[in-house]
Amino acid sequence: MMDPTLLMREIFAALAVLLPLSLDPSGFSDPEKKESVEKALAALSLNAGYLEEHGGERGVGFRYLAGNLKRDAQEAQRRFSAGQPAESAFFVQQLTENCLSCHARLPGGDAPMGARLFKRMDLSHLSPPDRARLQAATRQFSASLDTWELVFRMPDVSPAQMEMMGWLADYLTVAIRVNGDVERALATLRQLALRNDVPQWVGEDLRVWISALETIQARDLQGRDGDTLARARALIAEGEKVREYPADHTGLVHDLVASGLLHRFTESHPDPGGSETMAEAYYLLGSTESRIDRSYWFDPADFYLETSIRMAPGAPFAPQAYKELEERTIRSHTGTSGTHMPEDERTRLDALATLVNEAQEAKPQAP
Ligand code: HEC
Repeated sequence: MMDPTLLMREIFAALAVLLPLSLDPSGFSDPEKKESVEKALAALSLNAGYLEEHGGERGVGFRYLAGNLKRDAQEAQRRFSAGQPAESAFFVQQLTENCLSCHARLPGGDAPMGARLFKRMDLSHLSPPDRARLQAATRQFSASLDTWELVFRMPDVSPAQMEMMGWLADYLTVAIRVNGDVERALATLRQLALRNDVPQWVGEDLRVWISALETIQARDLQGRDGDTLARARALIAEGEKVREYPADHTGLVHDLVASGLLHRFTESHPDPGGSETMAEAYYLLGSTESRIDRSYWFDPADFYLETSIRMAPGAPFAPQAYKELEERTIRSHTGTSGTHMPEDERTRLDALATLVNEAQEAKPQAP
């Protein structure tokens, strides 16, 4: 493919213009900046489009994330030319979640250009969690972990808040999946467990996460060898044992390590055709990613579940994949005033349900 690093530098250069202006309350509405904002937005959409077009070699998940970045960039562009600078600036900040989602899938190193950009920006009105996320989005992973650790030491930020806001999940995603730094994650969790304001349920999570980290092996964090999928299955099964009910976070470390293995597995088999093995990998990826409750990164779990169903609707896990997708979709459209599912979402779900039912019925019955 076109060298992703070169595309990334173009994308980063555009963001380096846009991000500082988007954080300045009058940046996007300053007539003197209009031309450079327009140019940078156009460059961002264009290069995100290239990333999507040429991302096929890295698998459908990569393409999907690149495509989402392109759509967000186009939305920012559309708002800007429609004379809505504040909305456009908001979309620019939101679209950094795509950077984070894509970069946080695989092991990787810091890029020095991110730190150079930050030196030029006024970050004083960003909250520390927002700063930590922006650091990770621009591949300053170590600095992002530093910022999170600072947050976790603040006496007025409670461990309950860290857990419920998804901040611990954000931190552990970068520490484990990207940096592979188990020692660092362990030190942070052990320190946190010593605080005297840890509620029992968080204490229980910490205890299980620490013991899971103690048994993680180096190949779980780096390997791309043949038994990747088997190892992911085993970790997910262990995670299921420690969870008391489906939505609790006790299995977080198991899910993080397993999803890291699955990201590497799917990316190293980019052209899977209709293979049931790949469909299973995408199902497990969707399922683990949907349990990892991060603060508010853009969440591709639905896409992984749908990919799995379309690849192998007759597979034994397909009905469960559909069930999880349906539940997630309905939940995302349900509030205090009821369930308001858009017509096209309902149609899409119905089509998937039919696909699964027909494929399951067509299967030869066991004697
Ligand atoms: C669809 C996936 C994807 C998305 C979305 C994405 N990136 Fe990347 N990015 C990559 C890959 C792959 C690399 C190369 C990683 C490596 O070398 O390990 C990379 C590398 C980088 C680098 C380092 C370049 C270098 O010279 O080493 C920077 C900086 C970067 N990305 C910034 C961004 C920013 C900012 C965004 C969002 C506006 C973004 N990326 C969105 C996949 C993505």
